[in-house]
Amino acid sequence: MHKDLENLWLPYTQMKGLNNIPKAKKTYKSKIFLQDGTSLIDGISSWWTACHGYNNSHIKKKIISQLNNMPHIMFGGLVHDQAVKLSKRLIKLLDNKFEKVFFTDSGSVSVEVALKISIQYWLNKGNKCKNKFIFFKNGYHGDTSGTMAICDPEEGMHKLFGNYLNKNYMLKIPDTESEKNNFINFLNKNTNKIAAVIIEPLVQSAGGLKFHSPSVLDFIYKITKKNKLLLIYDEIATGFYRTGSMFAYQQTNSYPDLLCIGKALTGGTISLAATISTKKVFSAFLSNKKNKELMHGPTYMANPLACSAANASLDLFEKNNYKIKIKRIENILLTELEKFKEFKFICNIRVKGAIGVIEFYKLTEENIVWFKNEFIKNKVWVRPLRNVIYFMPPFIINKSELKYLLEITYKILLKWKKKNENY
Ligand SMILES: Cc1ncc(COP(=O)(O)O)c(C=O)c1O
Repeated sequence: MHKDLENLWLPYTQMKGLNNIPKAKKTYKSKIFLQDGTSLIDGISSWWTACHGYNNSHIKKKIISQLNNMPHIMFGGLVHDQAVKLSKRLIKLLDNKFEKVFFTDSGSVSVEVALKISIQYWLNKGNKCKNKFIFFKNGYHGDTSGTMAICDPEEGMHKLFGNYLNKNYMLKIPDTESEKNNFINFLNKNTNKIAAVIIEPLVQSAGGLKFHSPSVLDFIYKITKKNKLLLIYDEIATGFYRTGSMFAYQQTNSYPDLLCIGKALTGGTISLAATISTKKVFSAFLSNKKNKELMHGPTYMANPLACSAANASLDLFEKNNYKIKIKRIENILLTELEKFKEFKFICNIRVKGAIGVIEFYKLTEENIVWFKNEFIKNKVWVRPLRNVIYFMPPFIINKSELKYLLEITYKILLKWKKKNENY
């Protein structure tokens, strides 16, 4: 094993036989510079976080100033300026439809908190039966136990843990008439057991980069309201303009009771996430009785460095017109991905905001390793996910970098086609 890996355990990686791994040395704008001198154009923004690119000078300045003042303070019994300011700004950005922000330290934990709030909401209202969730095929909501139990077991990567996890209900996204009827019928029969419905609005990310239309969310919203269920939107991947608007739900006529955000919240600098609640949900936690308060509190919640980074990131969103930036990326993706349709092994090409997806009929583990190596050899950082190659570049990527990224991908696919003539 390579010396660097002697004591490291890597995520989602079979480490047997892993003899080498690229080592990142520094980052700048859209680029990752490796130890060996290679520079890579990042096509996926460090797991969809670095929306303003790397080393943004404004975010850096604000973090350093906060570092000099107060890097961390516990949030139990104390608040601080950066968290106060961030909570107010988030609520304003969310059209004042929400009231309370509960900060956490990762996306998975923000979803855990949303699940916990949903269950306790019903308990606080005296209903002990509503403790199950409806989630959707191709959904992914995190890696912790509660969130694994609401991920598609096949596409959401946690099939192995089936026997250990809580049982919830997976349905198909209600798009066709028959899927809509199934959704209605299922709710009619099971409403008394269900605490909430959870969905990633418009784009399901890690479960296969699948898209659905705003009208699907309007439908889910209508039916959950009719059945008096809570609705959770997981905007951890879709938030902060990735789909073309600040939040994906803003392209619909719906809004959830609870909203989870994370990833790009700090512009890709420090881990921070949040569960944001409406007044209706929060009100169920106000009481003179014991044990009605929310029973949760991560040690590093609302870390001041992370909150200052998030405030700085929001400054950038306020100063620039991101709708135009995303449209520019979307147009290039739409134009450049068109020619990929000629490949017979591609079953779908789709684009939404700053997300471009090339879906193969099938990719084996071996194919994926081959693609990953080719991408690095050609100076781009792109990571196929099961049967898709996708792009979620930093919003500051310039036209020539983005075109290079897509042209090189096309050349790599041509090479792959030649290598697999019989595919
Ligand atoms: C939609 C969604 N929810 C939750 C998570 C989990 O977030 P984290 O990795 O910060 O725990 C992710 C991560 O990819 C995600 O895409």
